[in-house]
Amino acid sequence: MKYLISPSILSANMAKLGQEVDDVIQAGADMIHIDVMDNHYVPNLTIGPFVCEALRKYGIKAPLDVHLMIEPVDAIIPAFAKAGATCITFHPEATPNIQKTIELIKTYHCQVGLAINPETSIDYIKPVLDQLNLILMMTVHPGFAGQKFITDVLPKIKAVRELIDSQNKKIRLSVDGGINIDTIAQAAQAGADTFAAGSAIFGEKDYKKIIDQFRSQLKHND
Ligand code: DX5
Ligand code: ZN
Repeated sequence: MKYLISPSILSANMAKLGQEVDDVIQAGADMIHIDVMDNHYVPNLTIGPFVCEALRKYGIKAPLDVHLMIEPVDAIIPAFAKAGATCITFHPEATPNIQKTIELIKTYHCQVGLAINPETSIDYIKPVLDQLNLILMMTVHPGFAGQKFITDVLPKIKAVRELIDSQNKKIRLSVDGGINIDTIAQAAQAGADTFAAGSAIFGEKDYKKIIDQFRSQLKHND
């Protein structure tokens, strides 16, 4: 499975978002990570479906990897699907019925992701594993960009890798939070294949240079 880089627009210059997204795609990003925060499930407040829609209208064709940090989550899912989300990821604590939320996402023909916080049990995954397209392992506490990678999550990533490998289906194992040139290889060694990264990418002037550096770190792991 190829490694995928998913820059988080939370750290982009929002005043010229279309250009920023174009630039990271040109620089070699595979998809775009969109962090949606509601000032309730997490303390921060970010963006709604209209931003996905605006990016699509601007001409962005890359997959949009929407990370919902929203509780309750179901009511907003149709709007993100209609706005052009490719994959919709939610937190199991943010819904009273995980199965129903998965089915809702599938109704709109979007891919399904489940996000696991550092303190959340991976037991949530097993009963629904065969219905997932992506598992998003949080390597920071959700809510803010620019936090430090929590290395205690690495054994959990390994355990989820084993779970995925026990299935026939292709399921992406993504990490999110504190991914940079020093931590990306650790995450890959633990079994991650998809890397959401905000400040490490948008904090650099040359997006191609940093994405190339990410990929060369990953090469050692091939
Ligand atoms: C945290 C978000 C992350 C975050 C990543 O709640 O889900 O996607 O924006 O930002 P960095 O890469 O700066 O940790
Ligand atoms: Zn995220």
